[in-house]
Amino acid sequence: HGHGDSLLVKAGSGAATFGQPDSPGVTAGTAKDTLTVAYNDADAFRELMDRCGDDIAAVIVEPIAGNMGLVLPEDGYLQLLRDETKKHGTVLIFDEVMCGFRTALHGAQSIYHIVPDMTTLGKIIGGGLPVAAYGGRKDIMDCVSPAGPVYQAGTLSGNPLAMAAGLETLRIITEDPDYVEKACAKTKILTDGLKAAADEAGAAVQVHRAGTMFSVFFSAVPVTNYATSEASDQEAFRRYFLSMLEQGIYLAPSQFETNFVSGVHSDEDIEKTINAARTAFEKAVVRG
Ligand SMILES: Cc1ncc(COP(=O)(O)O)c(C=O)c1O
Repeated sequence: HGHGDSLLVKAGSGAATFGQPDSPGVTAGTAKDTLTVAYNDADAFRELMDRCGDDIAAVIVEPIAGNMGLVLPEDGYLQLLRDETKKHGTVLIFDEVMCGFRTALHGAQSIYHIVPDMTTLGKIIGGGLPVAAYGGRKDIMDCVSPAGPVYQAGTLSGNPLAMAAGLETLRIITEDPDYVEKACAKTKILTDGLKAAADEAGAAVQVHRAGTMFSVFFSAVPVTNYATSEASDQEAFRRYFLSMLEQGIYLAPSQFETNFVSGVHSDEDIEKTINAARTAFEKAVVRG
């Protein structure tokens, strides 16, 4: 619903959220207890689960990945995660912190018809204020206090200001049943326009879209995981980004970040962005 929504600005959110970086850290201790496999690598996942699935407590994945640029799951990949985790009694957690609400009102799980055991949410659910939420299977949630022994609480848990901003956000995006769909349709016009502009300029790009999320990779080959995202031409991205910035279009400043269209972007905003991209793609393909 945009950064400048007046009610949320009044509530202390909105404009205050613009461009705030977050810098997560993973400690050696946490890394020691974690195994990683490349996104979309079905064989590697199957092999890992065959080898030690019975000892793996949980599998956590962004079902639609947004933290290496936007990368979509290949056909059958999420179903494979569901089937293998079920087979080994492993909890499947969908991290929908970024793709929740943005890809569809009911998240990536509603698009791919996969029911995970747990879901994490953040960002939109707090209307820009610091709120995170998790939920899932009743028997798992019954482990949490006061029903069960797992005590989980925090200074800001259920903070009234954050709850007010979150509730208002959810009201805005649900009271018009087509709110998210309309923003998705606008995003498709934008990404179709970006692809056409890149083709005109002779820039080899992969333009990915999922709902209101999108990414442009300067790559002639499909981008399916971190390695192919990283192998994209980041110098070309830099020239594209700077040209867009000069023209007043503030994209996410890294190819590893995903861009979002909001409900308040106008048709004119979309058109202006596509026009700017025509120039930016031309700049991007100029070497040296
Ligand atoms: C998909 C996703 N999950 C989780 C997080 C981090 O959540 P938290 O700060 O609550 O650990 C982020 C942060 O941007 C994210 O993009």
